[in-house]
Amino acid sequence: MKIFLDTANIASIRHYSEMGMVDGITTNPTLLSKEGGDPEEIIRKIVKMVQGPVSLEVISTEVTQIMEEAYILKQYGSNVVIKVPMIPDGLKAVKKLREEGIDTNVTLVFSATQALLAAKAGASYVSPFIGRLDDIGNDGMSLIRDINQIFKNYQYNTKILVASVRHPIHVIESAKVGADVVTLPPDILGKMFLHPLTDKGLKTFISDWENLKKTNPSIKIL
Ligand code: G3P
Repeated sequence: MKIFLDTANIASIRHYSEMGMVDGITTNPTLLSKEGGDPEEIIRKIVKMVQGPVSLEVISTEVTQIMEEAYILKQYGSNVVIKVPMIPDGLKAVKKLREEGIDTNVTLVFSATQALLAAKAGASYVSPFIGRLDDIGNDGMSLIRDINQIFKNYQYNTKILVASVRHPIHVIESAKVGADVVTLPPDILGKMFLHPLTDKGLKTFISDWENLKKTNPSIKIL
């Protein structure tokens, strides 16, 4: 399963890229607005730093305007994926962009019917928002299972990009279902590293070694 970072924060992208954890990036207007500064400059930096797909979202809701925005966004780099909302004109744009060989990510997906339509239009990725479904008392993970089953039944090439991820259990459940990608806010990826037994064990190893050195001052290594 690939891990994308759901952020426009350059420091986080650099931090996790140094560990080889960043297979791609998803952004949206909200994430860019959180960073402040010049969004164009931020986008340029992200596209340069990350080899994998970088989803950049259009704002328009009418097909001609979506296409115009898509061409502008695509100029930032060959790895740019055009993120389009799950609306009829969005899917018209997805079809056109597919015909032109441009990758798309259909966002704001909350049902299996929406995912099916996005796949039929030729989306490269669908982004079901599981956390927001959980928030309203639905079961976000069961949507991922349904979409996975449907895409398998009919051999759609559209990848499932699990979005609105709120905790590491969402990540494990997505991997068990066989989702193609999870896009994670940096703090969720950070939580995946943590285990109290790792910290406790490391503390013991270090203190035991320090004690050993005290009793054997001739030790040369470390
Ligand atoms: O890409 C954005 C999506 O992941 C939404 O997340 O936490 O705003 O529901 P959230």
